Amino acid sequence: MYLSGHHILITGGTSGIGAALAAALHKHSNQVGICGRRSERLRHMEARLPVKTLVCHLSQDKGPRALLHWAQQEMPLLNVLVNNAGIQRDIDFTEGLGEYLSGEVEIRVNLQSPIELTGLFATFLRQNSNPIIIDVSSGLGFVPMGRPCRCTAPPKRPCMPSLWQCAGSSRKSASVYSRLVHPPLILSSTLTAVQGAAISE
Ligand SMILES: NC(=O)c1ccc[n+]([C@@H]2O[C@H](COP(=O)([O-])OP(=O)(O)OC[C@H]3O[C@@H](n4cnc5c(N)ncnc54)[C@H](OP(=O)(O)O)[C@@H]3O)[C@@H](O)[C@H]2O)c1
Repeated sequence: MYLSGHHILITGGTSGIGAALAAALHKHSNQVGICGRRSERLRHMEARLPVKTLVCHLSQDKGPRALLHWAQQEMPLLNVLVNNAGIQRDIDFTEGLGEYLSGEVEIRVNLQSPIELTGLFATFLRQNSNPIIIDVSSGLGFVPMGRPCRCTAPPKRPCMPSLWQCAGSSRKSASVYSRLVHPPLILSSTLTAVQGAAISE
């Protein structure tokens, strides 16, 4: 994949890996769009970089479709989608189901939303050259963290290759290049409590 000349939408591009990717890809002469839930973080990114932004809650029912609609209007040449947005909560299941149900459901944003976005964006991306979908997964999908409370983050994306393998049997979806990325441990707002290397652009 050539690193320049793409029109790239990064979900969760306001902090951590997404923000660093936005900065790095902009530096390599790409047009970049980002989304996130908090408008102040998006404004902060706009002040740093010439990025297009959308306030979008991917865990809400209308979120993925709203993102597609916005991208079709604001980034008609879009050819790369980076499914990066994700959350990680500490949930102690030994205390019962209440804690899990009382907060934002990780599976909604970590797994269901990339699947929905893949289905929604594949046709749109194929209208432009070099259509690519990149899923930012996690090593936790393969090696659990040894903390019983982090058990809903791991299943987030390892199923995405299998989704693409199935989709690949159709000639249309096979024309969208897809890749799964497993970043190393990186200190970010998701992972403020664990040790790791600071993200570098
Ligand atoms: N950090 C690591 O060590 C590590 C390692 C492996 C994989 N990962 C994966 O890499 C991805 C990014 O992680 P990170 O550490 O960079 O996290 P981060 O700094 O917390 O960034 C998460 C981004 O997603 C956005 N976001 C969260 N929930 C959202 C929702 N429902 N709708 C729309 N946007 C949402 C956040 O903005 P708002 O909060 O404003 O919405 C933020 O821009 C995640 O999928 C994570 O699982 C991280």
